[in-house]
Amino acid sequence: MREEILVIHVKKYHAERVRRILQERRLLNHDFRAESSEDCVYFPLVIPDKFREKQNISSSRQEAIQDFYHIIFDRMDNASGIEYELLYKNMERAKKKPASYKDIVDIPDNLRHLLPSSFDIIGSIAIVKLDEGLMKFAERIGNAICSVYKNVKSVAIDRGVQTALRLRSLQLVCGDDIGDVIHRENNLRFKLNPSKVYFSPRLSGERKRVSSTVEDGEKVLDMFAGIGPFSILIAREHDVKIIANDLNSDAIRYFRENISLNRVNGIKLVNTDARKIRLKGANRVIMNLPHDAFSYFPLAISILDIDSYPIINYYEIVNSSILQERVKEIRNVAERVLSSLGNPECNIEIMTKKVHGYSPSLDMYSFDIKFIR
Ligand SMILES: C[S@@+](CC[C@H](N)C(=O)[O-])C[C@H]1O[C@@H](n2cnc3c(N)ncnc32)[C@H](O)[C@@H]1O
Repeated sequence: MREEILVIHVKKYHAERVRRILQERRLLNHDFRAESSEDCVYFPLVIPDKFREKQNISSSRQEAIQDFYHIIFDRMDNASGIEYELLYKNMERAKKKPASYKDIVDIPDNLRHLLPSSFDIIGSIAIVKLDEGLMKFAERIGNAICSVYKNVKSVAIDRGVQTALRLRSLQLVCGDDIGDVIHRENNLRFKLNPSKVYFSPRLSGERKRVSSTVEDGEKVLDMFAGIGPFSILIAREHDVKIIANDLNSDAIRYFRENISLNRVNGIKLVNTDARKIRLKGANRVIMNLPHDAFSYFPLAISILDIDSYPIINYYEIVNSSILQERVKEIRNVAERVLSSLGNPECNIEIMTKKVHGYSPSLDMYSFDIKFIR
């Protein structure tokens, strides 16, 4: 699309100097493309607001050109010797990269407010939750996401997490297939297939936080370890012994590959139902099963070396209005379990932190549960 706008016309041998001057003074109009002929360049110009107020450009085009002439070049030392002409010329608009897929997706206007503002990207796959009202436009939405985000090669609609293994039911709407991807986080690489294992990229900061609290020499149990993002980061950053367990054999298979991919040591893998774990002497248990971890909590306490100031990194999805109640319940259960195990009294310190939003009324929280004797 072409429009008549104010431009500066200079010889090519002055073009770079002129471009720099205009750029420094923020007078280059980036809404239009610069154009060149055999020996000349036309730079599109911005008309500053201040100048507009003083001179009515639309009523006196010639005068405005003269004013530009004085303001931009005559009074500037570094513009001396530059020959130029100011004129109005039909110029082509610069093609702007859309800021969001929402700018280009073709759906009825009355549904636009339902478009999701964010989604997870795992490797090169975008995982998008869609309102039912948008499902018949899922392909258009997928194509718009693929074309705007260059790192996204496929788009899958998340139809919900259904199984005990937290597997997502995914519907491919753009790209060839849902296969293995390499996801990068915290300077590590994780291979996974999002339709075979659970993985949330939204926990990368939380994993970093937990790892920063680990001390060398710790014995760690990662009870619901998935493809290994907590354990592998901790093993990379600390000299520790980790037992990492997951019920999903695919998760353990990817975990094993991810250990090699990231060249870390000190992790032993177990593929069983966490209920069957029989261990003693852990300094830390990580419990990342936010919908269901509470039923495993007594078992986790029984695994701790209670004399070593141990910690449980526990996760749960909670409504913030009942968070303090939940903290009390967790403390009560911990005290009961400790006493039933014959442990002398110990202080239980519980620190909570919101990790991310989950739904309009629920958030995912971390609970750092420390046992101090
Ligand atoms: C929310 S994911 C967390 C995965 C991993 N910690 C992460 O941050 O990506 C929960 C994991 O628990 C596993 N899981 C579910 N029930 C389990 C059980 N009874 N015993 C062991 N693992 C289980 C699932 O297979 C899944 O990988």
